[in-house]
Amino acid sequence: MRVLAVLTAAGSGTRLGHALPKALVPLHEEPLVAHAARRLLAACPGPDGAATRLVDELVVTAPADLVDAVRGAVAPVVADGVRLVVVPGGPTRQASVAAALAHLGDDDDAVVLVHDAARPWAPPELVARVVAAVAAGHDAVVPGLPVTDTVKRVGPADVAHAEPVRETVERSALRAVQTPQGFRLGLLRRAHDEAARHAHDERVAASDDAGLVERLGRPVWVVPGDERAAKITTARDLRVAELLGEDA
Ligand code: CTP
Ligand code: MG
Repeated sequence: MRVLAVLTAAGSGTRLGHALPKALVPLHEEPLVAHAARRLLAACPGPDGAATRLVDELVVTAPADLVDAVRGAVAPVVADGVRLVVVPGGPTRQASVAAALAHLGDDDDAVVLVHDAARPWAPPELVARVVAAVAAGHDAVVPGLPVTDTVKRVGPADVAHAEPVRETVERSALRAVQTPQGFRLGLLRRAHDEAARHAHDERVAASDDAGLVERLGRPVWVVPGDERAAKITTARDLRVAELLGEDA
């Protein structure tokens, strides 16, 4: 079974507010995208204890003017035998993933992982867990963690910007979803093709790839996530990732 991967790194990192686009911002002296690629490609012990490489091909999306810089950051962590392609991303994350999928051949049964460069410490065990779930027959798999805050549905705000509470959502049934997300390639392609056909309709937009599969009416499964896969969005998140390091 072939395992392919898309690593999204084409965003600008507006909320991080760094001079560099987020994927190239250094963390422990290495760009975020290099950390994310290393763990995504890391060998994982198979059932017999022997290390097996999971990912055969990696497509990275880069800001259009920084394709060479992103290739330079990722190439050193890519082992011999893994095909690396760096492509310009699109205006949205969804468009970037769609651009990457065009470079992944036509083996519909292959497993494809979609992962964010903004999650540099996502560990190889998490990658292996997602791949194993797809291999076991779940065609769309996302890692998710229980939500610890109480969550309320609100709105709309009044003139003083206080928001009325509509309801408290039942927390035990909620999961905060991470990446890598895993799919049969054929299914993810169909989900993106369908979304592109309805691109004019905001109601069919989704903030992750699994959301596009849900729009097809196909099942999506959640496996246990990992706190180390936290996304870096703000300068505070970057500071936390620096302080905790890769194993915390
Ligand atoms: N991404 C992408 N192409 C885009 C937008 C985002 O490949 N057009 C990627 C980012 O590089 C990131 C991931 O999608 O790895 C998650 O996006 P996000 O955390 O929102 O990153 P940015 O879009 O870069 O940040 P911001 O929204 O603050 O500008
Ligand atoms: Mg963004």
